[in-house]
Amino acid sequence: MTPFTVTPLADALGAEISGVDLSAPLAPDVIDAIRHAWDTHLVLRFRGQTLSDPQLLAFTRHFGELDPPGPNPYGKPFLAEFPEINVISNIKKDGMPVGNLGDGEAVWHCDMTYIDTPPRAALLYSLRIPPSGGDTYWSNMYLAWDTLPGDLKKQIDGKRAIHDATYNSAGMMRKGMKEVTDPREAPGAHHPLVIRHPDTRRPALYLGRRRNSYIVGMDLDESNALLDALWSHATQPQFTFRQVWRVGDLIMWDNRCTLHRRDAFDPNASREMHRTQIKGGIVTPYETADMVS
Ligand code: SIN
Repeated sequence: MTPFTVTPLADALGAEISGVDLSAPLAPDVIDAIRHAWDTHLVLRFRGQTLSDPQLLAFTRHFGELDPPGPNPYGKPFLAEFPEINVISNIKKDGMPVGNLGDGEAVWHCDMTYIDTPPRAALLYSLRIPPSGGDTYWSNMYLAWDTLPGDLKKQIDGKRAIHDATYNSAGMMRKGMKEVTDPREAPGAHHPLVIRHPDTRRPALYLGRRRNSYIVGMDLDESNALLDALWSHATQPQFTFRQVWRVGDLIMWDNRCTLHRRDAFDPNASREMHRTQIKGGIVTPYETADMVS
C-alpha cells in the first residue's frame, strides 16, 4: 500500500502527494513510493511544506547526487553557505539581485541541456509568491513523442540538435558568453532529438531550448522549419500541467522527459524560490531500430 495519497493534477502529467512531511526523516519505503509516483507522473507536488535549506538538500539527496546550479549572469552562487542551492527570484538587496531569472517570462526549456550530462531532475520550493502571475507549466515529452506525426518522426530519425549555452530561459546571457549570430556555430552539447529514458526505457522527444537550436547536418532554413514544427507540437496545452503556486509548495520534475516554462509577473511583487537539482548522465538516443512509424 502507498504510504501517502497520490492525486493526478492534469491528464498529461503531474500529481499531488499528500500526507508526507518532507522536513522529517523519511523511511526507505516512502522514498521508493515517491520514486515510483515520480516515474509515473513526471512532476510531483507536495503542498504545505516548511523546509529549511538543509532540509531541502537532505530531501533532494534521497534521489541522487546534488548537481550544482549552472553559471548565473552574476558569476557567483546566490547562497554562499549553500552553493548547491539556486535562488530563483526577482528580489534585489542593495541593488543586487538575490536570485536568477527576474520577473519576466522564462521560455520553454529543459535544464542545462547545453552540457553533455544535464541534470536528471530539479526541485523547486516556494518561499514567496506574487499575488498573481509567475505560474509554471510542464509539458510531457513522452506524449509529445508518442503523438508526433509519422512524417516528423521520420525526419528526425537519428538526428541530433545543438543545445545553445549562450542564454538562459529568461533571455539573459550567461557569464563569459558571446552573442550567437549563426545557430550552426552555437556553443553547447549535441543531443539526440529522440532519447531513451534511462529508467523507464520509454522514448521521449528531447528539445532543450528553441533559441539558437540547430539540427546538425541540415540546411539552416530546413532545420528552423522542422524545429518550429516540433516545438509547436510539443507545447500544445493537452500535454501540459499548470502550477499556480502557494507558499510552501515543493515541486519536483524529471528533466529528461519534460519541458517547463514560467509566466511573467508584476515587477513590483516579490517571488522567491529555492531550487536544487540532481546529477544526470550522458543522454542516450532512442535507436532507429526501435522507431515506430
Ligand atoms: C525554472 O525554470 O527553473 C524556474 C521556474 C519558475 O520560476 O517557476
